[in-house]
Amino acid sequence: GVVEAGWLRKQGVLSYDPGYTNTACCTSRITYLDGERGILRYRGYPIEQLAGKSSFLEVAYTLYYGELPTEQDLRLYETNVAAHRTPHNDLVKIISNGFRSDAHPMGVLASTMMAMGTLYPEANPALRGNHVYESHKVREKQVFRILGTMPLLVANIYRSQNGLAPMVGFDTGDMNFTESFLCALNWVEGKQYKPNKKLARAMDVLFVLHADHELNCSTATMRQLTSSGVDVYTSVAASIGALYGPLHGGATEAVLKMLERIKSVDNIPAFLDAVKNREEKLMGFGHRVYRNYDPRAKIIKKIAYEVFEEVGQVDPLIDLATELERAALTDEYFAKRKLYPNVDFYSGLIYKAIGFPTEFFPCLFAIGRTAGWLAHWNEFLEDPEKKIARPMQLYKGHGKRDYIEVFSRW
Ligand code: ACO
Repeated sequence: GVVEAGWLRKQGVLSYDPGYTNTACCTSRITYLDGERGILRYRGYPIEQLAGKSSFLEVAYTLYYGELPTEQDLRLYETNVAAHRTPHNDLVKIISNGFRSDAHPMGVLASTMMAMGTLYPEANPALRGNHVYESHKVREKQVFRILGTMPLLVANIYRSQNGLAPMVGFDTGDMNFTESFLCALNWVEGKQYKPNKKLARAMDVLFVLHADHELNCSTATMRQLTSSGVDVYTSVAASIGALYGPLHGGATEAVLKMLERIKSVDNIPAFLDAVKNREEKLMGFGHRVYRNYDPRAKIIKKIAYEVFEEVGQVDPLIDLATELERAALTDEYFAKRKLYPNVDFYSGLIYKAIGFPTEFFPCLFAIGRTAGWLAHWNEFLEDPEKKIARPMQLYKGHGKRDYIEVFSRW
């Protein structure tokens, strides 16, 4: 049964729950997750069906509005997102001139998203009053702008760090969201770029798989910030910050670095011993909610082989990853703790095969997860029971004591 916190508090009871392992802070209709049985559904639709049949923007629509779009609604939605595919010139300047060339792309992305909020005061409750988001039209405009601009921000960070001219906007013709992202990364003045349809589809499916995962750390961050009444850009910037961490979206990058360090199948037993001795962590394994195989990891593993076939080379790290997974799954330490590969275990190998530098992997995750963040933002604003997020603490510090002058301390 569900016991409401308000009722418990009136009885003088306080639950102590570090990491919120057993505390619900909202009701939601967006994503259903059964970690014991390895089930994930967006708005009721199984992730396997969406990965097989849907597109990222269709999923973003469905997450936000709650229903699959009609064909006409989808085309309109795609057009509205595409209309914001040109980043504000100030943002391009910030990306080109504001950071060291070796700055981590996630730091640049979060900072640029924060800066983006300063350019649209009409969407800032601090400047225009708390009512700004009462209008669905105003909310939708921010959604189109953020979803449309995100890939261009990431592409410009990539271009700036690789000595390429900034991409300010271009005619995407009939390219879809993900194809135009690949185009923005690879675009060269005066040259026609045709995205590889199979690689673009693989990326699009990764965006679908990453789009939402109920109250993960970055989505909880989105709701937490939104509860203070801050503008949506600041909330998204903070969510990017949460995703950056290696225990969350940063694991995409950390897995690859771990595989490169292990180097060879022969070193797996020693590595797993180090994990068991708590000197290492098996990155890409374990999940707060899944006590079974992450359904997204199964799909991603299959895509990895399709991408290798398309690029005509097999990364030797895939054999290492497969063997590492096999060794871990047959090891008592991992079995006892129900640790399975998560979404990040194989996704980095796909990004690498497509040609992304390792540091960019979390940015790619962020593009997909933006759809979920915005759906939760909207759901929070609609919630009649919303409240500013303010967890309790158990104070364990000193009792009252008197100040001691600096010359009397030792
Ligand atoms: N490697 C080794 N041991 C692990 C791992 C791991 N990856 N994950 C959990 N464990 C162990 C813990 O040490 C703990 O053991 P103990 O009971 O003997 O102390 C037990 O399994 C339970 O783990 P918790 O840390 O309590 O699990 P929690 O739910 O707090 O953490 C997390 C989940 C952060 C994802 C963790 O599994 C982890 O750090 N994984 C590696 C990083 C990673 O891949 N993150 C991506 C997650 S998916 C995503 O965010 C998109």
